[in-house]
Amino acid sequence: MKIWKKVLTGTVAMSMVAMMAACGDDEETDVPEDTDTDDTEQEDADEADGDDNEAAAAEDQEEVTITYARGNDATGSTDVLIEAFEEAFPHITVEYRDMPSDTGASHDQYVTEFSAGDSTIDVFDADVIWPAEFAQAGYVLPLDRFIEEDGIDMDAYFPGTVESGHFDGRQWAMPKFTDAGLLYYRTDIVDEPPTTWDELLEMAEEYAGEEGTEFGYLMQANQYEGLVVNAIEFISAYGGQVLDDDQNVTVHSPETVAAIEKMKEIVDADSSPSNILNFDEPATHTAFLEGQAVFARNWPYMQSMTEDEDQSRVAGNVGFALLPAGDAGSAAGLGGWMTMINRYSENPEAAWEFVKFMTGPEGQKISAMEGGLAPTIAELYEDPEVQDVAQLFADEEFVRTLDNAVPRPITPIYPQISDIMQIELSRALAGEISAEEAASNMQSQMESALSE
Ligand code: GLC
Repeated sequence: MKIWKKVLTGTVAMSMVAMMAACGDDEETDVPEDTDTDDTEQEDADEADGDDNEAAAAEDQEEVTITYARGNDATGSTDVLIEAFEEAFPHITVEYRDMPSDTGASHDQYVTEFSAGDSTIDVFDADVIWPAEFAQAGYVLPLDRFIEEDGIDMDAYFPGTVESGHFDGRQWAMPKFTDAGLLYYRTDIVDEPPTTWDELLEMAEEYAGEEGTEFGYLMQANQYEGLVVNAIEFISAYGGQVLDDDQNVTVHSPETVAAIEKMKEIVDADSSPSNILNFDEPATHTAFLEGQAVFARNWPYMQSMTEDEDQSRVAGNVGFALLPAGDAGSAAGLGGWMTMINRYSENPEAAWEFVKFMTGPEGQKISAMEGGLAPTIAELYEDPEVQDVAQLFADEEFVRTLDNAVPRPITPIYPQISDIMQIELSRALAGEISAEEAASNMQSQMESALSE
């Protein structure tokens, strides 16, 4: 495996740095001010960290096996990543454990294991919405000493992605890839993608059925985290906000009501699958790759899959664009994944080697090229090989999408906020309550959750 190195020169990467810096400003507030980390847990973590570093030399070339967990990888890039790592570090074997692709379901499994002090998993991928919660609960090791000892240049990463892993003055997670919602469309059916949600709905109804398609638009409307991201995109597009910058709940507004009503209109459209309320990302890419839909909302990973003729019937016929606009413009939800180390890991040194490799330029290049995952290291967007494999990374439209990315509500009780949204939005989309009721219920429930 060739070691990759390149100096950042281009304007695209520079503007991405600037844009992600802007995201970073938003994300910064994501790190709770609250510093009431359990002291005992904190000291234990410090101690573990210190012991680990001392053990480093002794452990040196000893054969070790570590377990790495991540949400189901539909792209196969993880195997390539592990193979490259094991080649570079022959004394470390990585066992890969597949977790549910639903971020909420894997979150709950990690919490169950880590809160019981289980040491099975050494390294794991964490959704950008988890690091503060996991750090505060004492589930993970702080990475600062490793970062310092190995001279990792954190400035090479998009600032927003670094901030997502920062909590209580320490770095708990290394940024692995970043995500932003995109509109995918069939270029053999549609000449120009829709620019507003009304236009999308119209075109979905008009074109469903063409070129063997059955459906118009696919989105993630199942009751899980993906629904929250889709809703945030609609709410922002219609000018609403769940929490304002001062953490006041502002979700009960005409803007949110309009957003939920638009989502409901799309769910009820004749051209939407009858089981759209069960759709998550895998259901979306499966149907889209089989050629069943004219439009789909998904993350960047789907772009390289669409071009892979082994799994896609639509290769050569797929374009991507900004998500359509509501009354206030277009908005993409901000997502992405970090890598963290279980504080009970028995092999933290080896675990760190793997984290460093995966989240460093060589590992991220593999994830970008094999898995279509958007790098968090700016200079990778200038790499001709990366650009060649995933046209997305060389595309200004995509850069604009990242520019628009909207973070989810920024609060230490994010899991509760997410649950409230998931439940109330699902009820509204199923027609059990009105959009107005959903917005009002979310408002009162969030207010009481935040005041606890
Ligand atoms: C993607 C995003 C993640 C988000 C999830 C929702 O994995 O990267 O941030 O929470 O989708 O399904």
